[in-house]
Amino acid sequence: MAIHNFSAGPAMLPVEVRERLAEALGPGEGGLPSIAEVSHRGPRFMALAEELFARLRELMDVGEDHEILLLHGGANLQFAWLPMNLARERTAAFLLTGHWGEKALAEAGRVTRTQVVGSSAEVDFTDLPELGHLPADTAYLHYTGNETIHGVQYVSPPQVGVPLAADLSSEFLSRPYPYRDLAFAYAGAQKNFGIAGVTVVLIRRDLLERIPDDLPRYLDYRAWVETGSMFNTPVTFAWYAALEMLRWIERRGGLAAVAAANEAKAAALYAAVDGSRFYHNAVAEHCRSLMNVPFFIHDDALTARFVEEAEQAGLSGLKGHRALGGLRASLYNAQTMDAVESLVDFMQEFERRHG
Ligand SMILES: Cc1ncc(COP(=O)(O)O)c(C=O)c1O
Repeated sequence: MAIHNFSAGPAMLPVEVRERLAEALGPGEGGLPSIAEVSHRGPRFMALAEELFARLRELMDVGEDHEILLLHGGANLQFAWLPMNLARERTAAFLLTGHWGEKALAEAGRVTRTQVVGSSAEVDFTDLPELGHLPADTAYLHYTGNETIHGVQYVSPPQVGVPLAADLSSEFLSRPYPYRDLAFAYAGAQKNFGIAGVTVVLIRRDLLERIPDDLPRYLDYRAWVETGSMFNTPVTFAWYAALEMLRWIERRGGLAAVAAANEAKAAALYAAVDGSRFYHNAVAEHCRSLMNVPFFIHDDALTARFVEEAEQAGLSGLKGHRALGGLRASLYNAQTMDAVESLVDFMQEFERRHG
């Protein structure tokens, strides 16, 4: 039986990429050490790193105004690292569209002044908020491009006159995006472009001048710019996995092709949810996530049963996040239409049996 994995992250990899990673750790030709067993400063790894940064820059379509960094610590570390560097003595403004924005706000609040300038909490994060007044000393406006738990996504970045800082954890490289319009962005690889361990950070170069000089070097973005993201030992195998994912994206035809596939998968699943009286999703249509589709059974008592029976039918990872309950299917780059069709068939069959 085929197993379809709908995990929200770490998420599935394309079969081809998984095979390449397995090969990369397997017995090498002539007893050569694997890529995970060589110095990050040696020629083999340095060539890989060069290709990885070049591919990232090309896919993101950013020029010399921006630095791209590969860091450790996930998005959670960026929640604090970013305000420490760029919002000292200034206000970090936030747009809240769900759980992750709230977490980013709470962490920034431990470091600097914060202000919520728009929140859709009142409508249970089922829509995008209006943008309110920005304080005069706003360092940046932070928004969550795609709220992974609530299933709410900005189609395009908010239009404002202050630097934009985006948590793109669950949509990075899932579609063409105006990265050059952003002052700052961050995303872990474990959803759309690799395995857990590496976090990409985009930072507009002029902002480096704002960084205070009293930070520990590790927590100063300039230290990572100066060392080509090798301030300390990188997560070498995660870098390699990201490279294989970027090569895969290119073989698929680039971000436009990946985006078209992502849209088709999401459209098929939302159509199944909306076409039924048994399931529902309350997010306003104009901001529904293409990556994470939360859905609920009207009779919530059936949710646990759905998860169990789906698992038996080879559909895994469908339990909703504990913060929201219900069900959730994640449709990142590696997800297949075949998996979505299997899920839709299962949903319809489950409804026939229990509806
Ligand atoms: C939008 C968003 N932000 C932040 C995070 C946290 O990421 P990490 O576990 O890499 O710190 C996640 C993880 O699911 C996420 O989806």
